[in-house]
Amino acid sequence: MNDYQLFHGDCLTVMAGMEAGSVSAVVTDPPYGIDYQSARRIDKSKWKPKIQNDKTPFLGWAGMAYQLCTPMGCILVFYRWDVQTAFVDELEQNKWVVKSQIIWDKVSHGMGDLNGEFAPQHENILFGRKTEFTFPGDRPKTVFRCNRVPPEQLLHPNQKPVSLLSALIESVSNPGDTILDPFMGSGTTGVAALLTGRHFIGIELDESHFAIAQARIARAAQMADGQFVDKQGKSSDTDNLPLFTQ
Ligand SMILES: C[S@@+](CC[C@H](N)C(=O)[O-])C[C@H]1O[C@@H](n2cnc3c(N)ncnc32)[C@H](O)[C@@H]1O
Repeated sequence: MNDYQLFHGDCLTVMAGMEAGSVSAVVTDPPYGIDYQSARRIDKSKWKPKIQNDKTPFLGWAGMAYQLCTPMGCILVFYRWDVQTAFVDELEQNKWVVKSQIIWDKVSHGMGDLNGEFAPQHENILFGRKTEFTFPGDRPKTVFRCNRVPPEQLLHPNQKPVSLLSALIESVSNPGDTILDPFMGSGTTGVAALLTGRHFIGIELDESHFAIAQARIARAAQMADGQFVDKQGKSSDTDNLPLFTQ
């Protein structure tokens, strides 16, 4: 039985009320500070065009994340190359030992400045550890290749693929561990955590994103409990369920 806890609110407030040492890994995708505006046509009933707190890199939470992790804990933080210094400083100034930069190769490139920059095909993830962390299985490599969520399937402007989050979570934690995402957006980390047999704690400030996360994670919990097993006894293909998307 996978359990999970979701909080609608500011992660700085919610994390301050959580028990120290209650989390195995923090896996998160904070506002990068790039004032991101989705280029595709936006259905305003589904999400706000810009995410909250994205004017500058959102900092001030890594110290609490450190306190919440066990001594065997670690952290994975999505970011973009041009705000790397801010996020490395945020982790290192809060005792995390930053050990790796991971590349998410998105297989296909995005738009960006068509004439003035290389076509962007990757995002970055920082890996930091506490003193007693060890990898649960084979040593993972620093490049993860995984298709982005197709634009027409996006439920959140910055939504990450479930398969990427599943691979990351499996590389740093064991089944039964608890994963925390203080900036869960549409809840992708939670979906991946439950589908890989982990427990999950998620926090999201925006009401509409929170509602989407609740729905997706509830469905993942049902699947993880075997309620979506097909007639041949195999699990259903999660990618084909509307609230999962890749
Ligand atoms: C980059 S998005 C996460 C997207 C997510 N990985 C997904 O796949 O849907 C960052 C999220 O952090 C939320 N956020 C911003 N400030 C926050 C805060 N102080 N506490 C909790 N969530 C916050 C934003 O509303 C946004 O949904």
